[in-house]
Amino acid sequence: MKHFLSLAELSPAELTGLLELALSLKEEWRSSGNKPLLKGKSLALVFQKPSLRTRVSFEMGMVHLGGYAFYLSPTEIKMGGRESIPDVARVLSSYVDGIMARVFAHDHIVQLAAHSRVPVINGLSDYNHPAQALSDLFTILEVKGRLDGLRLAYVGDSNNVARSLLFGAAKMGMHFAAASPPGYQLSAADLALGRQLRTADTQVEMMEDPVAAVAGADVIYTDVWTSMGQEAETAQRLQVFPPYQVNQALVDHARPDCLVMHCLPAHRGEEITDEVADGPNSVLFPQAENRMHAQKAILVKLMAG
Ligand code: CP
Ligand code: NVA
Repeated sequence: MKHFLSLAELSPAELTGLLELALSLKEEWRSSGNKPLLKGKSLALVFQKPSLRTRVSFEMGMVHLGGYAFYLSPTEIKMGGRESIPDVARVLSSYVDGIMARVFAHDHIVQLAAHSRVPVINGLSDYNHPAQALSDLFTILEVKGRLDGLRLAYVGDSNNVARSLLFGAAKMGMHFAAASPPGYQLSAADLALGRQLRTADTQVEMMEDPVAAVAGADVIYTDVWTSMGQEAETAQRLQVFPPYQVNQALVDHARPDCLVMHCLPAHRGEEITDEVADGPNSVLFPQAENRMHAQKAILVKLMAG
C-alpha cells in the first residue's frame, strides 16, 4: 500500500489488516496513550472544501502518534489554480512525510499521488470517501463483532460516501443495497466494480424503494442530500429526496438491532430525523470518533518505519 486513494485498490488482507490495527491503536490509546510510532513525521492537510471531522481527526491522530500535522486551507494553496497539481505535489512532498487531501475532482487526488514522493491519503473527493468508509467498517465490526454476511442498506444520495461503502462492503463479504431516486443512483460502472470486488457470494443492489432496501438490514446508512459543491442544486434536491428520509417509520422495517449511521455533517430534519439520529439505534457519534482511530491505522501503515 503506497497511497490510500480508494478502498477498491486495497486487497481484502490489507483492509482486514487496517481494521485490526485500528482496533489495537484504539485500545492502546484508551489504556495508556499511543506509542510515538510517527515521531518526527509530518503530515500536510490540504483542503479544497470545508471539514470538521477529517481535519481534526487526522491532525489529532498525528499528535497522538508523536507526529506533526498542519492545515492548508482552500484559499492558501488554491491547488490547480495558483499552480498546477503536479507542481504542488512535487514541492509539498519535498517538505513532508505524507499528504492528506480533500478535493473536488477525483482526478486531483490521483494527480497528487502520481507526482508525490510521499504517501497521499484521500480525505474525500467528488468520487469517494475511503477514510470514512474504512472507519465505518471499523464501527460496524466493533459493535456487531463481524462484517461478513451483514446487510448494509444505504438510503439517499448515492454519492461519494455510498460509493466507498459499496467497495468496502463488497470486499468484506457484506450485502449492499442502495435506494436512491432516479438520477441519483450509483452508475452501472460503480455497481459492476462493486460486484467484481466481492469476496463472497453477496448481493449488490441498486433500487428506488427505500423500504425494500432496508428490509432486514443490519445497518442503515445515510448522507446529506446536497453535498459540498452542489449547493446550487439544493432547492431541486429538496423536491426529490423527502421520500428517502431516514425516520423511525423507515427504521422499523430493518432488524430491531439495526445500526443507523451517517458520516456527518447531518442536515437534521432532511435526510435524518432527530428522533433517529439521537435514538437507540444510532451510532453516529461513536462513528465520528472512530474516524480518528481508523485513520491512525492508515497513517501508521503508510508512514511508520
Ligand atoms: N464525515 C466527514 O468527512 O466530515 P467532515 O466533512 O467534517 O470532515
Ligand atoms: N457527501 C458529503 C459527505 C461529507 C462528509 C459531501 O461530499 O459533502
